[in-house]
Amino acid sequence: MSTPTATAVTTLLAAIPDPETGRPLTEMGQIVSVDVTADAIRTTVGLATHSAILWKTTRARIEESLRTAFPQVARVDVTIVPHERPPAKLGQIGLEAKSVIAVGSGKGGVGKSTIAASIAIGLARAGSRTGLLDADVYGPSVPHLLGLGGRPQIEHGKIVPMTLAVGDQSMPVMSMGFLVPPGEAVVWRGPMLHGAITQMLRDTAWGPLDYLVIDMPPGTGDIALTLSQALPLSGAVVVCTPQDVALLDATKAIAMFRKVNIPLLGMVENMSFFVCPDTNKRWDIFGTGGARRTAHDLDIPFLGEVPIQIPIREHGDAGRAAAVYDDPASRPYFEAICERLVGNLAATAAASPPLPSLPVL
Ligand SMILES: Nc1ncnc2c1ncn2[C@@H]1O[C@H](COP(=O)(O)OP(=O)(O)O)[C@@H](O)[C@H]1O
Ligand SMILES: [Mg+2]
Repeated sequence: MSTPTATAVTTLLAAIPDPETGRPLTEMGQIVSVDVTADAIRTTVGLATHSAILWKTTRARIEESLRTAFPQVARVDVTIVPHERPPAKLGQIGLEAKSVIAVGSGKGGVGKSTIAASIAIGLARAGSRTGLLDADVYGPSVPHLLGLGGRPQIEHGKIVPMTLAVGDQSMPVMSMGFLVPPGEAVVWRGPMLHGAITQMLRDTAWGPLDYLVIDMPPGTGDIALTLSQALPLSGAVVVCTPQDVALLDATKAIAMFRKVNIPLLGMVENMSFFVCPDTNKRWDIFGTGGARRTAHDLDIPFLGEVPIQIPIREHGDAGRAAAVYDDPASRPYFEAICERLVGNLAATAAASPPLPSLPVL
């Protein structure tokens, strides 16, 4: 049994990676304090809101590491406080965001908008500053899913996004659906499409963000190309159903993202199965597990599955997509996807060159 000293505690903390950067907590001055007495170890660690969804897990990991190393100490108290590095301005458009995540699919109707909105809401609920851009200019469904309407105002030459109250945050949301009257058909030509997307990215007053989640239009590579030219994307999440045809389309979408050098952050299998509310019997309506296999074959992380649940559709129709997080039958699936996504971002960051040291804010 080793003696608990501040140095010994710090050494243990150094073995724990920061959930944002994947680098040792000691490297960027994130150990705020270490206080060791005969019967207690108290430490305060600074983490970024970017990894808010992983704060609890990180805290538990630190506690366990300290308890295991020093079983003789009666109390272990780990406090997490915010520790921010401001986001850099991305690309020529100057968007201030740490991670930009495109959610795509090979075809429509697989639940891409539902998953994109749920990922954004899940990250915002956890405490990350998150924005949601509906880039599906052909069929903008985010306003309907979230029950948002009206026309955005212009202030200081910027479009003021609509906002969704998520916990104590107001999440900025921008969609072509706010700019074009509902039910009106818009014929987009390539350059107009390009212009519309860049304008929503560049001219919206997003404010500094941890995440911008983008609901991509299905299929076509144009928008992916536009995005990849406008700013460095962290990567894409591909949504599909377990059906063979859907997987084939998803495989094409993955090839498309690879072609324009957008990293693949993972696959989500939606409509994985249905548990009949009357009998509790599970039905694999579209088959099951196909996306996990495809992800494995294509060497892409699998982020998780979402079953078919009637309330998911009902909440979407009612403009209350965020309500999936109030339902204990749906919440764990969406939370698991968000957690894996954030965890994988940290792992990717850890594999890239070290960050320059910035002053602690
Ligand atoms: N897991 C699910 N369970 C039940 N209904 C779902 C699920 N995922 C999506 N839906 C419903 O399917 C329809 C299509 O989803 P949507 O997110 O608009 O797909 P996409 O953006 O891929 O076209 C919507 O009515 C939505 O509420
Ligand atoms: Mg959609």
